[in-house]
Amino acid sequence: MTDAAALAPDLTGATASQGDRSVVVKDLHKWFGAFEVLRGVDLTVAPGEVVVIVGPSGSGKTTLLRCINFLEEYQGGRVYVGGKLMGYREAGAQAGKLVRLPDRDVSRARADVAMVFQAFNLFPHMTALENVALGPMKVRHLSKAEAHERARTVLARVGLADRMSSYPSKLSGGQQQRVAIARALAMNPKVMLFDEVTSALDPELVGEVLGVMKQLAESHGVTMLVVTHEMLFARDVADRVVFMDSGKIVEEGAPAAIFGNPRTDRLRSFLKRFQGAIQDERPTV
Ligand SMILES: Nc1ncnc2c1ncn2[C@@H]1O[C@H](COP(=O)(O)OP(=O)(O)O)[C@@H](O)[C@H]1O
Ligand SMILES: [Mg+2]
Repeated sequence: MTDAAALAPDLTGATASQGDRSVVVKDLHKWFGAFEVLRGVDLTVAPGEVVVIVGPSGSGKTTLLRCINFLEEYQGGRVYVGGKLMGYREAGAQAGKLVRLPDRDVSRARADVAMVFQAFNLFPHMTALENVALGPMKVRHLSKAEAHERARTVLARVGLADRMSSYPSKLSGGQQQRVAIARALAMNPKVMLFDEVTSALDPELVGEVLGVMKQLAESHGVTMLVVTHEMLFARDVADRVVFMDSGKIVEEGAPAAIFGNPRTDRLRSFLKRFQGAIQDERPTV
């Protein structure tokens, strides 16, 4: 079976989580020391929506994802996942002030938000199956048998049914990244965050990973925020594209509007770098 054929399994229903899968970011401000990296970000993502975030390096895309996952604390605004404030509680008497939640509560809130990074960070001494089963056992408290069953299901869905017993060193970069996506899916997340997950891959391996993400997007079972420089993927797969520059959302809209009719000079000059790729009519995957 070729890798392309291996992508055929349907991801529909892979993550049919219960409850609210929305993300709401309100007037988010984040400083690193004296440097204001997020300068008032407002973003509402509907349940099951696929939002692709594009923008120049250093514009704050990673920091925004990390604030949504509460890997970063922030100094102003609010982030709600599934209608719940992430990482903090309102201080009550002091209107507008937030109090950080204890680590236990932060971990529990974070379990609903799965993040996939550029680096796969699989455990080298564990098989693909064991890597994927670990989170459901540790965080969701599934039995080993239940966790392995879930791991087999999600690995099949990312086209790796025949590589479950492989150690990461025996897998290609594309396969390792698909294991990392399966590991995130196995947590049954409400929201999945993808941060340049194909940037470290050899060009010939990018397509298989984008293919898995596309199937996942089309299932609308999970809300997806995807940071990528793959403009064809953004054009073909996103429900909405968000353009960030210098810590702010400068433009957002349907892919056709963002790529076909950019309103700001900043977006126009950003897109110029990708012009060849976007005008190319070949499908992404
Ligand atoms: N831990 C950090 N400490 C200080 N500055 C940081 C840190 N992380 C990111 N930055 C700075 O914040 C800005 C935005 O970074 P980042 O969110 O990684 O942007 P992007 O993902 O769009 O490339 C950059 O100027 C970066 O140098
Ligand atoms: Mg980044």
